[in-house]
This record gives sequence, structure tokens and C-alpha cells, in this order.
Amino acid sequence: MHFYVLTLFPEMITQGLATSIIGRAMAKEIISLEAVNIRDYTANKHKKVDDYTYGGGAGMLMQAQPVYDAWNAVAAKIEEKGRRGRDTRVIYVTPQGRTFRQSMAKEFAAEEDLIFLCGHYEGVDERVLEEIVTDYVSIGDYVLTGGELPAMVMIDAIARMVPGVLSNSDSAETESFSNYLLEYPQYSRPESWMGKKVPEVLLSGDHRKVDEWRLEQSLKKTKELRPDLYEKWERENQEYFIRKAKREARKRKKAACREK
Ligand code: ADE
Repeated sequence: MHFYVLTLFPEMITQGLATSIIGRAMAKEIISLEAVNIRDYTANKHKKVDDYTYGGGAGMLMQAQPVYDAWNAVAAKIEEKGRRGRDTRVIYVTPQGRTFRQSMAKEFAAEEDLIFLCGHYEGVDERVLEEIVTDYVSIGDYVLTGGELPAMVMIDAIARMVPGVLSNSDSAETESFSNYLLEYPQYSRPESWMGKKVPEVLLSGDHRKVDEWRLEQSLKKTKELRPDLYEKWERENQEYFIRKAKREARKRKKAACREK
């Protein structure tokens, strides 16, 4: 998968994503990342990319021309490689967009190419947004100084959904949010630390019991910390509760038989 980021601060993007899992995935050529400096495409002889807003108001606006030409260059490059350059999805990162979620990360991870547009100053001239943007996406209800951090957040979340990026291929599926549940607590060595013991069931070697315990813990944690997610899970997993109720009824029946 190939990421392209249109930005005024390309080094922020390349340096921010060069290490750890994403850096390794790039070294293995599972993903690629190119940060394109919008300033390189300005027709202004002073390399200016922003100007005052028509109608007045504070702050400067990124102009349409350099943004459009930077996008055009990237689209042409993708086309040269035999892919659908001008049809590539262009994500404008903005607090006015739809809130980014795990399901979006999964959807974007299925694309071959993705272009991000990072705004700065007071925003970007509306006309170029209308011309090139396919998705308006926010990372949350707060305002940052620019789109670079949100783009990095999204690239990280999308890239880890690309097959081969995570070393254990199924770990992307079992984690928080893939099924609305938060992850269960996990423990590593030693068995006892500062007087706190690892739960007995995890040392038992009984995988069925471990799975059951983990699900119960996930449910407990989600109910406590994210009741909104818990409700969604409950709605979609009615049959889990039905199965559980039947299991418990069977247990009660057995115990009653034994007592007789
Ligand atoms: N640009 C500034 N703030 C942002 C946010 N919260 N999400 C996406 N882009 C932004």
C-alpha cells in the first residue's frame, strides 16, 4: 500500500513514521510513504503558498494552485505506475470531518494508494477541496495547529491493518475495537510483582478457561470504561448471552441432580 502526504512540513511526516513497526513495514516494502512538499509546487516566485481570506477575517488561507499542482503531480506519478492515479481517494484531515474510527482504518487499508492533504493556517481554499477531496476526516473534537499529526495517526492505524505489517497476523483482529470490546488485561513474567499475582487461570494451561476469562474481563472493562461500546457489543451478541444463560441453567440442573 502506498501513502502520499501533501504537506508544508514533509520532514515531520517522514521522521514521525520512520521507526518501529511502520518503519519496518516500509523497509520490507509492504507499505511506502512519500511526503510531498506543497511549497515545491507554488507558482509564486517568493514561494508563498498562503494569502488573505476574501471577505475578511483573521488568518491566512492555503491557496488552491499549489495544493492542486502538488496533487496533480502525485496523481500523475501513481498513473505512471499503472494504477488509478486521479481516482485515488484524497483524505483532507480537518476537525470538520467525520470522526476517524477503526472501521474506517480497515476500509482505507483495502486501498492500493491513499493521498492525505494536511491543512495549515486557517484552512485551504474551498475550490481546490471541491476539486480533489473525496473524504473529510477528523481525529477528534479538538483543534490542532495542522493536519500532520492527524495524518500520522491515521496512517499508523491504517498501515497496521495491512496484511504483513504486524508480525502476528491475527493480532489486528483480536484487539480493542475490532469487535467493540476493549482488550482484556495481560501479564508477563514474573508471576508475582510487588505482591500482585498473575490471575491463577492464566497459569492453568486450560485454553478454554483462559478464553472465557479473557472475554469476561473484556466485557467487564468495556462496561466500566466505555458503556457506549458495551451497548453496541450487547446488541450484536445477543446469542452470547443466550448461550451463557443455557450453560448456567445446565450447571444448575446438574448440581440439583447431584444433591438429590
Ligand atoms: N486539523 C486540526 N485539528 C484536526 C483534527 N482534530 N482532526 C483532523 N485534522 C485536524
